[in-house]
Amino acid sequence: MEKFIIHGGRKLEGEVVVSGAKNAAVAIIPAVILSEDVCVLENIPNISDVFVLFKILHEMGAKIEVLNKSTVRIDSRFIRQPVVPYELTKYMRASYYFIGALLGRFSRASVSMPGGCDFGVRPIDQHIKAFESIGARVNLEHGMIDVYADELVGNQIYFDVVSVGATMNIMLAAVKAKGLTVIENAAKEPHIVDLANFLNSMGADVRGAGTDVIKIRGVDHMHGADYSIIPDQIEAGTYMVAAAATRGDVLVKNVIPKHLESITAKLIKCGVEVEEFDDAIRVAGVKRPQKSSLKTMPHPGFPTDMQPQMTVLLSLAEGTSIVTEGVWDNRFRYVDELRRMGASVSVDGKVAVVEGVEKLTGAPVKATDLRAGAALIIAGLAADGTTEIEDINHIERGYDDIVGKFTQLGADIRKIEIPDSQLAQAL
Ligand code: EPZ
Repeated sequence: MEKFIIHGGRKLEGEVVVSGAKNAAVAIIPAVILSEDVCVLENIPNISDVFVLFKILHEMGAKIEVLNKSTVRIDSRFIRQPVVPYELTKYMRASYYFIGALLGRFSRASVSMPGGCDFGVRPIDQHIKAFESIGARVNLEHGMIDVYADELVGNQIYFDVVSVGATMNIMLAAVKAKGLTVIENAAKEPHIVDLANFLNSMGADVRGAGTDVIKIRGVDHMHGADYSIIPDQIEAGTYMVAAAATRGDVLVKNVIPKHLESITAKLIKCGVEVEEFDDAIRVAGVKRPQKSSLKTMPHPGFPTDMQPQMTVLLSLAEGTSIVTEGVWDNRFRYVDELRRMGASVSVDGKVAVVEGVEKLTGAPVKATDLRAGAALIIAGLAADGTTEIEDINHIERGYDDIVGKFTQLGADIRKIEIPDSQLAQAL
């Protein structure tokens, strides 16, 4: 078993370079299937979710060539099998984007149901509703999602709930459907726009991404493309909050400041100094943060994927803050771990009351999911003493070289291998 060991209490200082956006990459990589050609993708983050996607593509018959640590060349001309088996999808949820991409190219797909997640139920009813709207039949049995269409025909789709995944998935399926597809109540995250830009670079006709209404006119053929993925808004935000929580001074490079507006605004409200440049942002935590309440919302609201990290900062603030989770049903599971470090947070459903304390103290904790794990790292960096974090696989799913990047900023953090305990070996 692997753990992170953190000796806290050191200010983070220096520069960190943000990698490509995980939540854009996990949709753009399956999208290459639509091209029936060769694509070169740049600024790919080195994270386990991406490695799983490449393995799936390879199993399907794609040829993948690594050109350098963040650039790959993918030839999807020889893909024949529109099937993604369980033994590959069980490692990550976003494998469901292969349904939309395979449906778009082959008019059929068979993909294992996505796993659950650590913050409540993650339904796919909106994905299914959208696929059925353009003429697909969807069958769920034996843990597989089987989708089939004689012909995909564009249609009007209105999402009952704003869903990043469902918006991405129907974009993938509709780019080669006959006629016009209009998606209303669409998600507007930066990664939605990035996928649309990638699809258009392959010859698709997608308009309105980033607004509530996306219009897609089907095309007969999509060619290859060279494309660079946008920087990761949540990775950038994570380092911004870490700088503030450790009273540090960090220049976060390779960012698109516009994507960080809600995070920047919240940090400034907490009394953190933030300075924007063209493709970088400087964050200095000059004094104890002030309390501030927040509610997570779909973009352009405060991102839910920054909620745990921000709650850690507020747990050190002067005064009491209210954090409301507006997207997921149960995204406060990490608070039990944070309490072990001295935080004073009480949770009632989707609302956390965060009473700021002077200091957190290091303790052994567990990462319950990706962003919770990142938040616990921030807590450990700010805390007095030593923090050990278990279940770090969650964190490495979505953060490229997080130990290296924090170390470069002066953190005392390292990954160690712990042999399974005698008890674990005996069981
Ligand atoms: C994406 O998940 C992200 N994951 C999540 O980030 C992020 O938290 C979420 O969007 C919201 O921004 C990826 O992009 C891989 P949703 P997704 O569909 O697409 C409900 C991270 O840390 N819903 O926008 O699964 C759902 O229950 C991860 O990087 C339905 O009811 O999220 C939720 O309450 C964690 N029916 C809300 O919509 C559906 O068919 C938003 O979910 C789909 C969703």
